[in-house]
Amino acid sequence: MFKNLSVYALFFAALLVTGCGGGGEQAESAAPAQEEAVAVEGIVVEANDQLQFSINEFTVAAGEEVTVTLHNVGTLPKETFGHNFVILTAGTDLEAFATAAMGNADNEYLPTDLSSVIAHTSLLGPDETDTITFTAPTEPGQYEYLCTFPGHYGTMRGVMIVE
Ligand code: CO
Repeated sequence: MFKNLSVYALFFAALLVTGCGGGGEQAESAAPAQEEAVAVEGIVVEANDQLQFSINEFTVAAGEEVTVTLHNVGTLPKETFGHNFVILTAGTDLEAFATAAMGNADNEYLPTDLSSVIAHTSLLGPDETDTITFTAPTEPGQYEYLCTFPGHYGTMRGVMIVE
C-alpha cells in the first residue's frame, strides 16, 4: 500500500519535473532530489510501556517486499521491559511459540529454531528502533506477530494480512 502511494508520488513528481518544460539541464538536475524526497518509509510500529503495539493489523500484497520499523517509545529498561516484533509463519501456535521463547533471554527471547519465524527485529530498549525488510508470503492469509518478551504477547500481538 505504502509502496503504491510512493509510486504515484514519484509519477506525480516526474510529471511536475517534465511539465516545467524547456530547460533540459534544469529538469535533469531536479529529478534526483524529487526521488529522495519520497523515499519508501514502510510500516512503522511503535511499542510502549503499556504493552501495546500502535498497529495491530496491516495488509500487504502477496510476495511483495515489506519494510517494518519497530520503535520502542517506552522508557522502561530493555532488560526488564524490552520489545521486539516477530512475525510467524501460517499455522504457528502463538502461545506455544511465546512460551518456548520465554526462557531464551540469551537469544533476545527468540527460540533457537527459527523455522516458524518469517522475520523479526532485535530486542529494543527505550527509544531504540530497528528496521527489517522481508518478502511477504506468496500464500494469502493471516500471519500473526507478537513481542516475545516474557509476559508481553497477551496484548502485544497483531495480524499481517497477505492479500
Ligand atoms: Co514487549
